[in-house]
Amino acid sequence: MCGIVGYVGDEDSAPILLDGLRRLEYRGYDSAGLAVHHDGQIGVVRAVGKLRNLEKALSQAPLAGTVGIGHTRWATHGRPSEVNAHPHVVGPVAVVHNGIIENHLQLRKRLADQGHSFVSDTDTEIIAHLVALELENGGELESAVRRALTQVEGAYAIAVISTSEPDTVVVAKSSSPLVLGIGDGATYCGSDIPALLPYTREMIFLEDGEMAVLRREGVSITKLDGTVVEREATHIDWSPVMAEKAGFKHFMLKEIYEQQRAMEDTLRGRLDRESGDIHGHEIGLSTDDAKAIKRVYLLACGTSHHSAIAGRYYIEKLAKIPTTVELASEFRGRDPIVGEGDLVIAVSQSGETLDTLEAAKLAKAKGAKVLAIANVIGSAIPRMSDATFYTHAGPEIGVASTKCFTTQLANLLMLSIFLGARRGVLGDEERAALVEGMARVPHLMNDVLVGTKQLVANLARRYNHARDVLFLGRGLSFPIALEGALKLKEISYVHAEGYAAGEMKHGPIALIDENVPVLVLVPKDSTYDKSIGNLQEAKARDAQVIAIATEGDDEVAAICNDVVTIPAVDEVFTPFLTVVPLQLYAYFVADMKGTDVDQPRNLAKTVTVE
Ligand code: F6R
Repeated sequence: MCGIVGYVGDEDSAPILLDGLRRLEYRGYDSAGLAVHHDGQIGVVRAVGKLRNLEKALSQAPLAGTVGIGHTRWATHGRPSEVNAHPHVVGPVAVVHNGIIENHLQLRKRLADQGHSFVSDTDTEIIAHLVALELENGGELESAVRRALTQVEGAYAIAVISTSEPDTVVVAKSSSPLVLGIGDGATYCGSDIPALLPYTREMIFLEDGEMAVLRREGVSITKLDGTVVEREATHIDWSPVMAEKAGFKHFMLKEIYEQQRAMEDTLRGRLDRESGDIHGHEIGLSTDDAKAIKRVYLLACGTSHHSAIAGRYYIEKLAKIPTTVELASEFRGRDPIVGEGDLVIAVSQSGETLDTLEAAKLAKAKGAKVLAIANVIGSAIPRMSDATFYTHAGPEIGVASTKCFTTQLANLLMLSIFLGARRGVLGDEERAALVEGMARVPHLMNDVLVGTKQLVANLARRYNHARDVLFLGRGLSFPIALEGALKLKEISYVHAEGYAAGEMKHGPIALIDENVPVLVLVPKDSTYDKSIGNLQEAKARDAQVIAIATEGDDEVAAICNDVVTIPAVDEVFTPFLTVVPLQLYAYFVADMKGTDVDQPRNLAKTVTVE
């Protein structure tokens, strides 16, 4: 997830572009850059780190000109560095890009075979090469961009300028967001409404498969096939603060809503529905390496530890490798038996959590191979790991992790399918069915979100005064019960516990009375019958039981006080769906209590202390 902006007008463009980027910094902030037309040339300034570094660079090397593009980066291909920062310039062309080009490796190879050389590790530089090549074949910038994009697969919002047309910016969109702004004698583009709000409230939302040419006098929109698109501007009356959160009250809610997009970005280029397989080059394990793994250790903290518990189920079930999950802080405090032949998977959204980092270093020092699953490119854990399988959730601003958790689950499931297939323990048919099922998950998550939101808000209103709340689950629902409890306690400060449902009778059942809401996860899976038994035990002790169950499950509906339903899916996909109402429940309770949802007390987004 990155932020892009563009401007065509009569004002000095750099301050307008910088201001737009400042409002988009929530989309990424590991480097930034501007490209501006000046005297028949394109001036470019880029800087690593937050926007203030770019501002400093611009104060030393100002860019004068009234037409330009800008970018704030959240690295997906290539670590944060000045050469990987956008805009990327090839010949007369400069490009900024938000998204992921799936076929960039093939395109890079083809271009390299034709004699092109590359200065960055990014997928974006490929687009700049393709547009520059097409421009050499003649025609306007618009048609060169159109021809270049027919060769590109994946997600993009791009803005392109060329010395051949100093008064235009050409933009295009597929999957990644792009908004056009219509001003008085000026036009704008941006990844999101906030970037443009101080300049105009008249906006046009570009659709997938469309491109536009921005000129002072207005914009002309076409489909990629050249068909003309007529679209009226929409008047936006958001306040700037609302706009930054895209109209959501808190970043956490926005991020819960972003999960479909985050999941799609994470699956993109890894799930291959045609071959029914996983592209696993980032995993860094050959078939022989996969076969040689004797044991897997999953190391993590907090929410990432919960996704790691689900990861153990996936790896044992699909890849048949003995797997241990460890709290990183405990693992490093012992003298763990780990070494050659072991694969250690360090799961960390930030990639900086000190306990996970030190635990992974310890395992590596003892001879284990370390694979990171992280969301922040170039962070400490990926840097010390043998390979990194990144999640592409984009920056997570809310301290309580939501979209990073579900994308971690996705990577752990894809990794398990990959390992199972390479080790020869997962048949082709089962593998293809899993890939197909996985591809449908992001959409189903959004269905659950939209379909359960109101009911969950009502439940939160009814139970938000409870002092204690229990979350129960078995099998793959156990880590989700833990996660539901953690979400509730960290943002609403309500005492909540997650338990393996089978453990209730060994102690925790003593806590239950009519004042304790019990959220029980009972999707129709292999643990269903036993979970129903546990649900009945809670009900028999007068608990207020709220079930998260499969649609059409009348048996559960008859026993419980309330039921929130998810669609029927293969067991391995249930965590992606059952966690959504629990995230919403925690959010609504916290919001009703008026806590600081995005920055709960005593917590930090990245924990770099022991
Ligand atoms: C809870 C939460 C934390 C983190 C934990 C590990 O919502 O976000 O429990 O999961 O601090 O952080 P990472 O994943 O960055 O290693």
